[in-house]
Amino acid sequence: MTAAPQQAQTPDPAALALEMLAPGGREDPYPLYARALEMGPVLDVGGGLYLVTGYDAVNRALRNPAFGVTGAQASPEDRDAHDAIGLLARSVLENDPPEHTRMRALMNSVFTPRRIAAYEPMVAEVVGELLDSLAESGADGAPVDFMTAFASPLPLTVICEMLGVPAADRHLFRTLAADLTIALEFVADPAMLLPADAAAVRLAGYFGDLVAERRAHPRESEDLVGALLAARDAGDGRLSEGELLANLTLLLVAGFETTTDLLGNGLRLLFDHPEAAAGLRAGRIEVGPFVEEVLRYESPVQLTSRIVHADGQELAGVPLPRGAQLVLLVGAANRDPARYPDPERFDPTRTASRPLSFGAGAHVCIGNGLARLEAAVAFPLLLARFPHLAPADTPPTRRDRVVLRGHGTFPVRVTQGVPVA
Ligand code: HEM
Repeated sequence: MTAAPQQAQTPDPAALALEMLAPGGREDPYPLYARALEMGPVLDVGGGLYLVTGYDAVNRALRNPAFGVTGAQASPEDRDAHDAIGLLARSVLENDPPEHTRMRALMNSVFTPRRIAAYEPMVAEVVGELLDSLAESGADGAPVDFMTAFASPLPLTVICEMLGVPAADRHLFRTLAADLTIALEFVADPAMLLPADAAAVRLAGYFGDLVAERRAHPRESEDLVGALLAARDAGDGRLSEGELLANLTLLLVAGFETTTDLLGNGLRLLFDHPEAAAGLRAGRIEVGPFVEEVLRYESPVQLTSRIVHADGQELAGVPLPRGAQLVLLVGAANRDPARYPDPERFDPTRTASRPLSFGAGAHVCIGNGLARLEAAVAFPLLLARFPHLAPADTPPTRRDRVVLRGHGTFPVRVTQGVPVA
């Protein structure tokens, strides 16, 4: 099933990669992904760079221990020059075994599915409070920005609750966390990293103070700062002080904008597919498969990177030299026609969909259960609370990013504004 090309075909993977980085590609990468998938699952861009597009190839690459993360996101020079890159480089996200295995085992021990499930009432309470304030701000039919009023505070409040960040400090975190995620993006100009560097210094300082305060005044607590601190202070070399601060910061930033984007992207899809909204409201469509389809169709994380750390490697029959850089296009893999029938169709009734939006293998997202829980709690309550939920006249805006896909603003109306007699 090859669709008729809408633009002149570029048989050149390098030209296609540049198109993906250009403004049009950032706005709507999907036609470019479709063309890339037609060219093959692994494309040699030149200069040791490869684009990996196919579901099977991306899945295999994520699970191959010979493909590492160290050096994939940033060079040692960048790590030294930028506090943001240096901080994230000490976290699980950017380390290979044995460091990754050691840190990840520790984080898994505090981030268990049981612990996540136990947070459901807290998540529902936060959702309820945010819906109350949405209802209040939009009571007269005025437009309300869904991103500022709901999609952003929900994950931020939830992760702060889990970390044990005092409520009074949370307002600091929204901008700091958003600024730091720039360090996870492609940046053409190092000056763009200045806010990220400033945020890294402040966040590491904040967590340093929080940890010092908790050591001075130990308390019985189930929160993640307490649990990670206990592991750190067990003194058996499981986590260095630098790693503790890096991983606390990572937990904040990795789960914040990504989940915000999942909520915003889901809302957009509900508006674009009223039959899905009606199905969810009536219980004909289950929220679990709906959330999986949102993740597949509009993945909040569009790509990640790996470096080939061994000789004699290949992927989908394409030989890969040691040192090759792989750009794993998760957003393309999720629409691979070899994996998904009719991949360009949003279909919240797909079963066993398993999109690669949370990665796979050793680095699979540690917060995937939490993000799924937040979305699964939020959407049904949102739809039930606002039967007339609709986009406002001003259209939503997209954040201009390559890696993270989501909205900057999303004005909605929560009521029709008709006075009740
Ligand atoms: C919809 C929301 C989310 C998406 C789409 C997402 C996506 C991802 C992806 C793709 C990776 C793997 C990156 C790679 O292999 O290169 C990852 C890793 C990670 N995520 Fe998430 N994430 C989300 C929410 C969260 C939340 C809520 C948390 C924590 C509270 C979190 C914490 C992490 C951490 C710590 C890692 C690093 C794991 C490792 O390297 O071993 N994420 N995430």
